[in-house]
Amino acid sequence: MKILVTGGAGFIGSNFVYYELAHSDDEIVCLDALTYAGNLETLEDALKNEKFKFVKGDITDRAFINKLFEEERFDIVVNFAAESHVDRSIENPEIFLKTNIIGTSVLMDASLKYGVKRYHQVSTDEVYGDLPLDRPDLMFTETTPIHTSSPYSASKASADLLVGAYHRTFGLQATISRCSNNYGPYHFPEKLIPLMISRALNDESLPVYGDGANVRDWLYVEDHCAAIDLIIRKGKVGEVYNIGGHNEKSNLEVVKTVLRILGKPESLITFVTDRKGHDRRYAIDPAKIHAELGWLPQTDFDTGIKKTVEWYLNNKDWWEHIINGEYQDYYKKMYENR
Ligand code: NAD
Ligand code: DAU
Repeated sequence: MKILVTGGAGFIGSNFVYYELAHSDDEIVCLDALTYAGNLETLEDALKNEKFKFVKGDITDRAFINKLFEEERFDIVVNFAAESHVDRSIENPEIFLKTNIIGTSVLMDASLKYGVKRYHQVSTDEVYGDLPLDRPDLMFTETTPIHTSSPYSASKASADLLVGAYHRTFGLQATISRCSNNYGPYHFPEKLIPLMISRALNDESLPVYGDGANVRDWLYVEDHCAAIDLIIRKGKVGEVYNIGGHNEKSNLEVVKTVLRILGKPESLITFVTDRKGHDRRYAIDPAKIHAELGWLPQTDFDTGIKKTVEWYLNNKDWWEHIINGEYQDYYKKMYENR
C-alpha cells in the first residue's frame, strides 16, 4: 500500500513516518510545506530509505494536491499537517483557519476524486474544551460535546465536523482520532516540555503560565503513532477514537520533573502572565480504542520523560539549529514583558 503522511516533517508526523518504516512494508510519501515547524533534518534518516519519498507542498494548494494524488494514487491518507501551537493561534488566528480547515477540505476532495480507501484525520482532545480541576472523575469520551476555547481548537473542531460531513454526505471512508498531549523526540521547542528542557540546559528562566496548576494528560509520541497505525488498518469507518494513557500531570509537576532529571535548580522557574482562555484540565478516556482495537500505551511517564530528556541531550544540534534562528524573535515577542 501507499500511504500519504501530510505534516511528516513536524513532531508527530515524523515519528509516524519512522514508526511505519520500522513496522510495515508500505510505501510512505511525506508531504510537508516546511513551515517554521517543519524540519528536513528530522527526516534525514528516512530519506535514506527506499520506501520513503518527500514532497514539499501546501495542503491548501488545490491544483498541486490534485496533481500529486493523480500521480501517486494513494491508498491511505493520514493528515497531520496543521498549525498546532495554541499561543500562535491567539496572536494570529487566520493561518489556522486556512491550513487546518481549508487544507483538510482540499485533501478530502482529492481523496474522493482519486479513490483513496481510507482518510484519517489527526485531531486533538482540545476539541472537547476543558474540565474542572476539582472533578477528577470527569474525562473526555467520544460523545463529549465539542466545546472549544482557542482559535486553534476551534479550527481543529471545524475540520472534524467537515470530516463527519464528508463521510455522511459523500461516503468518504474516514476516521478521526483525538489524542491528548504528546511528548518525545523532534518536539518543536515552543511547546512546554522541549521549551523547558532546552532553556534549563542553557540555565535560562522557565516561564510557567499562571499558577502552573493546569493539567495535561501526557502520552509518549510512539504510543500515539501505534494507535493511529491500528486505526487506519483496523478502525471502523465513520468512527472517532480518543487516544490517551491516563497520565495527568500539572504543568508545575512536569517542569519540576524535567529539572530533577537534568539536576538543575527549581529557582529557574518563573511564573508569567497566564495564556488567554487557558484550558484548565484535559483528561482522555481511552476505553473505546482499548476495547475495539486492543490499544494500550507501552511507555509510562517516568520512562518516557527520561528518554525524552536524554534525546534532547544527545541531539543538541537538532534543537540548537532551531533556537539559533528566527525562533529568537518569536521568543522575544511572546515572552518579553509577560
Ligand atoms: P507540528 O507543528 O510539529 O507539525 C506540523 C507540520 O505540518 C509541520 O511539519 C509543518 O511544516 C506542516 N504544515 C503546516 N502547514 C502546512 C500546510 N499548509 N501544508 C503542508 N504542511 C503543513 O505539529 P504536531 O505537534 O506534530 O501535530 C501534528 C498533528 O497532531 C496536528 O494536526 C495537531 O493538531 C495534532 N495533535 C497534536 C498533539 C500534540 O501534543 N502535539 C496532540 C494531539 C493532536
Ligand atoms: O492536547 C493536545 C494539544 O496539546 C495539541 O492539540 C496541541 O497541538 C499541542 O500544542 C498541545 O497543546 P497545549 O496548549 O496543551 O500544549 P503547550 O505545550 O503549548 O502547553 C502545555 C501546557 O503548558 C499548557 O497548560 C500551557 C503551559 N505552558 C506552555 C508554554 C509553551 C506554560 O506554562 N509555559 C509555556 O511557555
